[in-house]
Amino acid sequence: METKELFNLEGEKAIVTGASQGLGREMAIALAEAGADIAIADINEEKGEKVAEEIKNLGRKSFFIKCDVSKEDEVENMTNKVKENFGKIDILVNNAGIVSNYPAEQLELKEWNRILDVDLMAVFICCQKVGKIMIEQRKGIIVNISSMSGIIVNTPQPQVHYNTAKAGVIMLTKSLATEWAKYNIRVNAIAPGYMGTDMVQRAFPKYGEKWIPLIPMGRIGNPEEIRGPIVFLCSKASSYITGSVLVMDGGYTCW
Ligand SMILES: NC(=O)c1ccc[n+]([C@@H]2O[C@H](COP(=O)([O-])OP(=O)(O)OC[C@H]3O[C@@H](n4cnc5c(N)ncnc54)[C@H](O)[C@@H]3O)[C@@H](O)[C@H]2O)c1
Repeated sequence: METKELFNLEGEKAIVTGASQGLGREMAIALAEAGADIAIADINEEKGEKVAEEIKNLGRKSFFIKCDVSKEDEVENMTNKVKENFGKIDILVNNAGIVSNYPAEQLELKEWNRILDVDLMAVFICCQKVGKIMIEQRKGIIVNISSMSGIIVNTPQPQVHYNTAKAGVIMLTKSLATEWAKYNIRVNAIAPGYMGTDMVQRAFPKYGEKWIPLIPMGRIGNPEEIRGPIVFLCSKASSYITGSVLVMDGGYTCW
């Protein structure tokens, strides 16, 4: 196979969660440009419908489904609708995520649960519901969006709940990769550093300005820079890679 063919996703059907904006939108567009049809699953209907339109303008099939990924019944419904509409599900990108900042001693259990529900439990729910279809198909690729916060402790912002959830996503990824390799399902994670989405822009200037000197490359990542890594992990170009964590952080975790 020619090298450029390794990245061709024509005929593949994908779900990207949290794709109404930010990194999810970038990944949805990148997968569509590589040839895949894309279901957008998000709670933000207005923005999600616009991303689906953008993808249709690229000549691919796309539709938006309103889905809170932390609600099991909504994920079940979303999975069934995608299967009905596309006939199969080849790729699942678990990207939806939220963050908040509290010192550990002040963090209320309700807030701990809110973050863990969306950032960790929801990733498992989506993997399980879509994974059952991938097992039947004996084919599938899952990419979970963790964070460098699952590997190192960020500074100066306190976020014990987020860091713990993102570390959990890495072990969830490795566990599923080993359980489901026999079904021809690959499961990998991406661990981004600071990328210039709304999530990160909100942290300027309180925390953001303190981050730049900690990044060897001396800059925040451009959200578009996740396009290459996601197409790589969702394509034949990464056919012998499973249970891996692709760190894209401008070198932050090296120091
Ligand atoms: N931006 C960064 O620097 C960075 C770094 C590391 C990891 N990440 C991770 O990347 C992912 C995307 O981050 P982003 O910066 O694009 O964030 P963002 O806030 O710009 O976008 C998040 C998207 O997820 C959706 N969402 C939130 N809760 C949801 C729910 N319960 N169900 C369905 N959709 C929901 C939102 O509506 C939004 O469209 C997150 O998992 C985040 O933790 C981001």
